[in-house]
Amino acid sequence: MSASELTAAQRAPVYLHDYRAPAWSVRNVALEFDLDAAQTEVLAELELQQDPAQADAALFLHGEALELLEISLDGCELSPADYQLDANGLTVPHARGNVRLRTRVRIAPELNTALQGLYLSGSHEAGFLLTQCEAEGFRRITFFTDRPDVLARYSVMLRADRARYPVLLANGNPDGAGELPDGRHWARWLDPHPKPSYLFALVAGKLEHIEDHYRTSEGRDVCLRIYAEANAIAQCDHAMRSLKHSMRWDEEKFGRAYDLDVFNIVATHDFTMGAMENKGLNIFNAKYLLANMQTSTDADFAHVEAVVAHEYFHNWTGNRVTCRDWFQLSLKEGLTVYREQEFCADMGSRSLKRIEDVQTLWRAQFAEDAGPLAHAVRPEHYLEINNFYTATIYEKGAEIVRMLAVALGRDGFRRGMDLYFARHDGQAATVEDFLAALGDANKTDLSNYLSWYRQAGTPRLSANGRYDAATRTYHLQLSQQVASILLAADNSPLPIPVALSLYLPNGDAVPLRLAGEVAASGIERVFVLDRDSMTLVFEDVFAPPVPSLLRGYSAPVLPQFDVSADDLALLLRADSDGCNRWMAAQALMTRLFDADVNDATTLVAMNDGLAAAMDDATLDPALLAQLLSLPADSILAERLAEIDPDVVHARIGALEKNIAMVLHARVLARYDALSADETGAVEARAPARRRLKNRCLDLLCSRNDAAGIVRALNQFENARCMTDSLAALVCLVRAGGEPAEHALAAFHARHADDALVLDKWFAVQAARPHADTLDTVQALTERADFRWNNPNKVYALFMTLARNLHAFHRADGAGYAYFGACVQRLDAINPQVAARLAASFKEWRRYEPHRRALMQSELQRLIELPTLSPDLRDILQRALA
Ligand code: ARG
Ligand code: ZN
Repeated sequence: MSASELTAAQRAPVYLHDYRAPAWSVRNVALEFDLDAAQTEVLAELELQQDPAQADAALFLHGEALELLEISLDGCELSPADYQLDANGLTVPHARGNVRLRTRVRIAPELNTALQGLYLSGSHEAGFLLTQCEAEGFRRITFFTDRPDVLARYSVMLRADRARYPVLLANGNPDGAGELPDGRHWARWLDPHPKPSYLFALVAGKLEHIEDHYRTSEGRDVCLRIYAEANAIAQCDHAMRSLKHSMRWDEEKFGRAYDLDVFNIVATHDFTMGAMENKGLNIFNAKYLLANMQTSTDADFAHVEAVVAHEYFHNWTGNRVTCRDWFQLSLKEGLTVYREQEFCADMGSRSLKRIEDVQTLWRAQFAEDAGPLAHAVRPEHYLEINNFYTATIYEKGAEIVRMLAVALGRDGFRRGMDLYFARHDGQAATVEDFLAALGDANKTDLSNYLSWYRQAGTPRLSANGRYDAATRTYHLQLSQQVASILLAADNSPLPIPVALSLYLPNGDAVPLRLAGEVAASGIERVFVLDRDSMTLVFEDVFAPPVPSLLRGYSAPVLPQFDVSADDLALLLRADSDGCNRWMAAQALMTRLFDADVNDATTLVAMNDGLAAAMDDATLDPALLAQLLSLPADSILAERLAEIDPDVVHARIGALEKNIAMVLHARVLARYDALSADETGAVEARAPARRRLKNRCLDLLCSRNDAAGIVRALNQFENARCMTDSLAALVCLVRAGGEPAEHALAAFHARHADDALVLDKWFAVQAARPHADTLDTVQALTERADFRWNNPNKVYALFMTLARNLHAFHRADGAGYAYFGACVQRLDAINPQVAARLAASFKEWRRYEPHRRALMQSELQRLIELPTLSPDLRDILQRALA
């Protein structure tokens, strides 16, 4: 009987407090694959060991959608009476102690549209086979104790037709290869490092590769290879460079060297997420691996560098030290995102990188934390773990690590990390282990940071200052308020590291001396607010200062600072921290949005501040571009008591047009100068200049002036790189009409055979701010170059549509109905993709009554469908709860 024939039972939630060490562990695994897209056979020999403390626990192995062909225990074939099979796996009740279990199963990779387990990328004739196991995909390959705290040594034999599958890859080091009869061949791989099953991977197919070498600080010569399909192999060099930079950086910053003789990366167009850190065999969504100036934007180049680094860094934070259970997911993801962020900061501009990361946090994580899908960085329970690969686990998790690093200082953090690796190498660890290592290495107790992992919601930080001219003292009161939606029982005050400086009206920073201290120490200091409230008293302050708080955005809180528009203008002009200059600009813009752009003092402060920034020839052009950018629509929308997309749109339009008008002459001059200098280069300062140039173009086109449109057309025609051609295309499409049609057609003709560029072409159209965009999207799905079973195509159209105020949130509800129908259709193909899209409805309660009712009824319709994946059901249930 096949497990897939059994009807899937409704899932029960998994609770953190139910955690128990595994009753059965696997020491060694030998796998043999007879690979074929239609039918693959997997032979598994497991050396199992029972925990003596759990002597009566039956042997249970996870397994889903596996056809069992053969099973034996310690060499004796089992009859169906000796075991039980259900939709979740295999139970062998009489197994005891140390046993050897052998199973042979059959799976069907080409029918696997969920892209979990072993699946086919591309067409039946020309595609290749690959795996995705995190979080629980390995159980779709063979029967196994598929949980992260079971670490085993793997030996993997791959057999396949040589012509069809010339390249055969798995984890670890290669261990022989050879010919077989009938045009088949084999390759064996041995991974010496014990690992959890979610890190298993194999790849088989017709792939080309580029090769390089890296010598580790320990003297190991590592062969680096990046594999891609032939038409993409020319676009792998940037990834290879990024990989070598990452390897060097992890040695220099964390003392971590690579530990195998080969490091392989494979690119695929069919991938649900970004990339995967399988031991020695990373698998990437092509979107985050391939880069080329003609087809990728500067932002794409930056993403490739970041994701290559991220997956590489997982080798220590995730693979060598893994997670005890999936509740600890942020232990590897938050920590690795933090490491990735620091790497990118070191490779480029630190304050720019910080601004981008804060933008992402505010846009994605704050929104998640304010709605019904809010969860703690370490949740207490889940229904479907795949729905927890979220901005909270990743980005807020990284912010917690950053707070720890800020609080401990650079050397203290490094000491802590060294102890963490020394203690837990080869283990499956917990968040508590992490905090204990960081604390012990610094002889301090960091256990109060656990509250950051346990509390959902965004805390608020308020600051009120009082200057006393007679004593030349400045009293700064800092206080925190926990988020109102607090879910966890734990509502103790959080430790909030506040990096701060004080600025005098002339723009000088004050040397900081607290009352009672003998001497000032520096102009920037970190104070940890670990109570509800505290007051800092600074002495020798010669004029009323402007506080610059949360410098470098030192804690993931919502700032509620009592500062005037003029104070913000001072920070925008004079703060030495680029991130705080940007936060000051954002605060001014947010105030104007709140006031419906009707607040003369703030308007003057913002306009003067931005004009001064434009006149400052020393300012980094990329920082200037950020200063000139409005907060994301979704962040501004959150300001309203009830979100009305028409109001959001009108206010943002007014704000944008004001900036465009007031700065018009400067923007025009700057655009023309930058545009005359454009070389289309990858390196150095070029991306920063392009960023400013394209923000200027955006402003020039915001009022549909001929001056702007002519420049956009000209830039589109003469662009030397994708960044410029795409930026121009966005402006043209927004303006609409014949030039937009023409540009879209030209762009498509130019890039018709490049899947990643076509994704951009789809996304640009789905982003067009117009109610009719809904019809456009519908028409685009009918095209031959759109594929419902390709996550990148689906995200390009539907993630973009979900952010479109005009189309998704159409007042007649057509956007919600259409989107809901597409989610339903996708659920039958790829539940994870459907669940991610459905999360777009999460803010439904925040909308004005009419749209709220429309969204609710669409969610209700979906949840009543007779067949729903556990993934989608989980999102719908939580959204409606
Ligand atoms: N660990 C991967 C990363 O680098 C993400 C894998 C996500 N997989 C999933 N099925 N949700 O972040
Ligand atoms: Zn990761």
